[in-house]
Amino acid sequence: MCGIVGYIGKRNSKEILLDGLKELEYRGYDSAGIAVLQNGEFSNFKAVGKLINLEEKTKDFITKGFAIGIGHTRWATHGKPTELNAHPHLGESSYVVHNGIIENYAVLKKELLADGVKFLSQTDTEVIVHQFEKNLKSSKSAFDAFSKTLKEIDGAYAILLATKSQPDTIFFAKHGSPMLVGINDEGEKFFASSDTPLIGQAKEVNYFEDGDFGYVNPSEIVIFDKGSNKRKANFKKLSQNRLSAQKDGFRFFMEKEIYEQSDVIADTLMGRLSDSEVIFDELDKSLFDGINEIKLCACGTSYHSALSASYLFERYSKIRTSVEIASEFRYRDPIMSKDTLFVVISQSGETADTLETLKMAKEANLKTLVICNVDNSSMVRLADSCILTRAGIEKGVASTKAFATQVTIFWMLSLYVAKLRNSMKKEEITKHILLLREIPSSVKVSDEMHEKLTRLSKRYLHGHGFFFIGRDIFYPLALEGALKLKEISYLHAEGYPSGEMKHGPIALADPELFTIALLPEHMLYEKSRSNVEELSARDSTICAISSLEFDKADDFIEIKKSSHYMLEFFEMMVVLQLLALEISVRLGNDVDMPRNLAKSVTVE
Ligand code: F6R
Repeated sequence: MCGIVGYIGKRNSKEILLDGLKELEYRGYDSAGIAVLQNGEFSNFKAVGKLINLEEKTKDFITKGFAIGIGHTRWATHGKPTELNAHPHLGESSYVVHNGIIENYAVLKKELLADGVKFLSQTDTEVIVHQFEKNLKSSKSAFDAFSKTLKEIDGAYAILLATKSQPDTIFFAKHGSPMLVGINDEGEKFFASSDTPLIGQAKEVNYFEDGDFGYVNPSEIVIFDKGSNKRKANFKKLSQNRLSAQKDGFRFFMEKEIYEQSDVIADTLMGRLSDSEVIFDELDKSLFDGINEIKLCACGTSYHSALSASYLFERYSKIRTSVEIASEFRYRDPIMSKDTLFVVISQSGETADTLETLKMAKEANLKTLVICNVDNSSMVRLADSCILTRAGIEKGVASTKAFATQVTIFWMLSLYVAKLRNSMKKEEITKHILLLREIPSSVKVSDEMHEKLTRLSKRYLHGHGFFFIGRDIFYPLALEGALKLKEISYLHAEGYPSGEMKHGPIALADPELFTIALLPEHMLYEKSRSNVEELSARDSTICAISSLEFDKADDFIEIKKSSHYMLEFFEMMVVLQLLALEISVRLGNDVDMPRNLAKSVTVE
């Protein structure tokens, strides 16, 4: 997804902007650009593809002394990924970078074209800079022109604009897309659409609120809120832990993140378990007062963790639970009743569709909770309550440790609610607490297992499709396994409830149909086993994952024996992640940045 950086200061602006963009690479992009204003002149560079292309183009460009600069990584929405469509976009004497969507751009563009303005790109963004320059002609100052422009555009945005008419200043606006400003002791100012580019540069950061706009120059940071009232910046110390954002010797971020799961789940659990209960200090116990239903809403992998949660909430907390895909929920006039706790789940906390459903729930006066990995993200700031998953920065586009920590939180939360509702005996909860403590060891990757999956992966590089099948909570896990494979191998894969195969998909069964069968010993084993036998009898190629040997399988991945189905769930999760990874590696794909995907989907 698009990323923004900005810089005001005396160091090598080009390098600071490019380094910042590199930190945003993991979000996914298809072109990039920078514009630097120094001594009254702009230098602008854009390139399609990876940042290395932009580095090549800027290799002879040197900045010395004071300059201001803006940069952008673009993930195409309006217009193809071309150099002309890459940001920053130029007016006559100003440049703009923008994340989000300008909904009324077509109307504005029509008017500007009628005024004789020439457009170079097919983007919605370009109208911002032309509209600004149109307003500049009749305004007292560049800031007046910028404020007027903001009133004329509709949509979601984070914007940085630099103009020759005020060459020491960057104008900013935030409305629906994330943006922050950072400062350090040297008097430098930095902008970015997430805090990673500012680690090691800024000491403190201010996260802008929706509706904030203003300007920053070497001596001041001027912020107006959505009501156009001047407000003070709210600076917070920025964590300087860059180490956790590196690959640590692994081939890919995704691989590192799979291996990290044991540690991050230990962090997720930390301080949240006593011997007999789950403790969420961040939750007010009254959150569940008067609540008769939990509605979970999310996209993609987070949706799969929500589906897993629905099994846990109904089984343990005995509370009615429904699960919604955010992009569907938004537009179907849903019934929102006050006795529902509305829970959104998101790694990034910025996913546009999920964020929008949270706003809907707030408007309907529902109690809201977010399960999120990114503190200070839009969802965290908006929801009434928040539980952070503590997975650390997830750089691989295919989500792994975020999912693992989400499911961990949900298992804990189901016990927390069970206690509040008296739906489980104390001894049962105590037993579950002991099981929760075992998750970190059940997700540890053994060399033996990884080697086995590497060897096995060579048999699964073709075929006409994969079915990942499971029952109960292993059905959402099957969905997640299929999504992981699709995302990074580009092979067709579907997740299906094992018991549903005979209602249609079994017609596809032949040796070229690969079935990845989840056969947990402690959850409906016999039933799942007979579903797999039906497929085996029709000659589908079967890869079974279980702690119990299964002779009807072509391939068998043996997991450790454990005492509970949730521990089997976590171990199988790791197997599915590694299988997808090794298949992708053999196919020569970009594991961390798969084609067409973005880490954080901030457009609908
Ligand atoms: C899959 C993946 C996506 C995200 C989805 C929601 O590996 O990463 O499906 O899960 O885009 O993102 P968040 O969780 O940030 O709201």
